[in-house]
Amino acid sequence: MSTRGTQTTPDLLHAVFDTIDEGIHVVDLNGKTIYYNKVAAQLDGVDASEVINRHVLDVFPSLTEATSTLLQVIKSGSPIYYQKQQFTNVRGVIIDTVNTTIPIYQDHKMVGAVEISKNLSEIKKLSERLVELQERVNKNDTSIKRQNSATSAMFHFEDIITQNEPLKRLKQTAVKVSKTTSPILIYGETGTGKELFVQSIHNASLRQHGPFIAQNCAAIPASLLESILFGTSKGSFTGATERPGLFELAHNGTLFLDEINSMPIDLQAKLLRVIEDGIVRRVGGTKGIQCNVRIITAMNELPTQCIKKEKLRQDLFYRISVVTLNIPPLRERKEDINILSNHFLIKYNEKFHKNVFSIDHSVRSFFEQYNWPGNVRELEHAIESAMNIVDGNTITKDHLPLHLHTSHLDKSEPISFRNEVEKFEKNLIEITLHKYNRNILQTAKSLNIPRQTLQYKMKKYQLSK
Ligand SMILES: Nc1ncnc2c1ncn2[C@@H]1O[C@H](COP(=O)(O)OP(=O)(O)OP(=O)(O)O)[C@@H](O)[C@H]1O
Ligand SMILES: [Mg+2]
Repeated sequence: MSTRGTQTTPDLLHAVFDTIDEGIHVVDLNGKTIYYNKVAAQLDGVDASEVINRHVLDVFPSLTEATSTLLQVIKSGSPIYYQKQQFTNVRGVIIDTVNTTIPIYQDHKMVGAVEISKNLSEIKKLSERLVELQERVNKNDTSIKRQNSATSAMFHFEDIITQNEPLKRLKQTAVKVSKTTSPILIYGETGTGKELFVQSIHNASLRQHGPFIAQNCAAIPASLLESILFGTSKGSFTGATERPGLFELAHNGTLFLDEINSMPIDLQAKLLRVIEDGIVRRVGGTKGIQCNVRIITAMNELPTQCIKKEKLRQDLFYRISVVTLNIPPLRERKEDINILSNHFLIKYNEKFHKNVFSIDHSVRSFFEQYNWPGNVRELEHAIESAMNIVDGNTITKDHLPLHLHTSHLDKSEPISFRNEVEKFEKNLIEITLHKYNRNILQTAKSLNIPRQTLQYKMKKYQLSK
């Protein structure tokens, strides 16, 4: 089949397959390679021409019928998903991949198999470096100790500013629970201050001098999260070195698992076991290591919805939500907008050495009406952005970031039905009066309303006779 251009469809597909990040290797039913893209060749350290039209075991002598996933899939007809693999390629480079191998069917008959390999070597190196850095930070290595929220808790309860009664009560509850060791689940939309609460809890706890370790579960590829959390054992199938995970590093301290609903479901089951027993086993290891860690988790999607969508295991939810703190969004605590604005004004005056002491009335009233989907973080950025460009000592609408100008038009200012009707009525009367040379009787007749009503409305809208 040919396309309208000069390339045939298979050529096009080859061109596409050569630009993607994954290695693709296709064999026929005899185990002979019929397609092999550039990335696959790079991973294996061979030239594609050495592989095409040859049997897999001829090209890769270290493989056998039993260890080659492509041959296994051809034999069983069942796919193998997300298999971790570590091997030394022909050029002597250690490669870590995650492979998915799927049988290919044509007219209900299996005709071959395809393997898609994702290279994890670089990501793996980076994540091992991350654990190593956290370890050094915990050992008080001053050369790398920075004000980094992932490795040190900076915020205290005094930093949480609010005049909202429910949030004030939540703060009081958080102060109380900071003295215990029960797991805490914090729910709140993005930018509502979850991290602020977590750090404050750690700093008010008896573990304040112990480690504070934060890990965003959405930030690490699922396949690596397990070894990051629980560590790896030498000689395990991943070929990894002996290395502690974040659980061990957080011993006698706090482990904050952010966006817990992004953690793969099977890993959630393992996490539950570790939380229940307080014992960690490194990946590939057998020895149980006792860890005394306080777990705080956070998510910005409603837990009940996450459970429904099967993004959060119900049993894990019960375990981690012994204490639950729900932080209300900013639009539900309008009384906080003003004091937070002033707080950020002071903060950025200090930071930028400026002397801006007021926020224009129109900006304040816009802030009141806007629905703040990014919550306090969005408000802070709006002020920071304005503080960058303001010359005088007052922030006006002209200094606000562009997206606030436009959102102001389309959603934040709810249309008042009454106002709109009144504007229309005033306009109609004005036009009709003009048409009849401001003759009251004729105007009233034309509008089909009593003269008294017209006069009342003219007075209301201050329309002259
Ligand atoms: N009540 C508050 N008082 C003062 N500053 C606040 C408050 N709430 C939030 N902030 C500010 O907003 C920023 C964002 O808060 P934080 O990082 O805790 O949000 P989050 O809920 O963890 O958001 P995300 O879900 O996106 O991670 C903080 O760095 C802090 O400067
Ligand atoms: Mg956060």
